[in-house]
Amino acid sequence: MAKTRTTLWTDVDRYLTDTLIRPDAALDAAIAAAEAADLPPISVSPPQGQLLHLLVKLVNAKSVLEIGTLGAYSTIWMARALAPGGRLLTLEADPTHADVARSNLERAGIADRVTLRLGRALETLPTLSPADGAPFDVIFIDADKPPLADYFVEALRLSRAGTLIIIDNVIRDGAVADPSSRDASVQGVRRLNDRIAATPNVEATSIQTVGAKGYDGFTLVRVEENV
Ligand code: SAH
Ligand code: DHB
Ligand code: MG
Repeated sequence: MAKTRTTLWTDVDRYLTDTLIRPDAALDAAIAAAEAADLPPISVSPPQGQLLHLLVKLVNAKSVLEIGTLGAYSTIWMARALAPGGRLLTLEADPTHADVARSNLERAGIADRVTLRLGRALETLPTLSPADGAPFDVIFIDADKPPLADYFVEALRLSRAGTLIIIDNVIRDGAVADPSSRDASVQGVRRLNDRIAATPNVEATSIQTVGAKGYDGFTLVRVEENV
């Protein structure tokens, strides 16, 4: 019998991971600790983590902001790509997730480069200032999806010309194209897209992906000048 699509996508992700992604004890341990603590299995996949790492390196980032830490799996990928002396600030609302993340960051040996701020992002984002690393070179938005447009507006406030904003989970099994969807996350992505489209001086694209996490995608936005 033919493989289901998701089985095939998972098999290919495993093949790509085994072939291209260097094995790493700290990243494996971070996933194992998140599983042991019953955190939801929604960290970026290994190839996606490697993509975040490459993007942070390609822009030579010294200052990175992440919204949505979970067990710090994506955090570790990005923090390891920082330019020398660089720093990463990650925002997390759930104290249990934050505890797992802190211990994973310690184990990975990068706790000195990373600050975890506990609190709801809509409350912590407006408090961020140059003392926290703003304007950031890269901003990764990966928390709850209904307020995506609000996170994007805050991200713009914390950007400079050249900042790269990355938003995860923006295709949602294709539901993003359904204007009548009653899913609050889908409507969150649609409001985000309208906001991006209405923002002058940004260039953006959204890329559909398949893999071990199903059918989803990510958006890349480059800020052309501060808006
Ligand atoms: N970036 C992680 C996955 C993040 S999952 C990785 O790829 O490894 C989303 C995280 O956002 C969860 O840990 C959840 O607790 C957190 N979150 C949800 N709503 C939030 C909010 N309002 N403010 C801050 N964090 C939030
Ligand atoms: C969900 C959130 C994520 O950040 C993700 O990568 C996958 C799924 C979710 O809330 O379902
Ligand atoms: Mg995500």
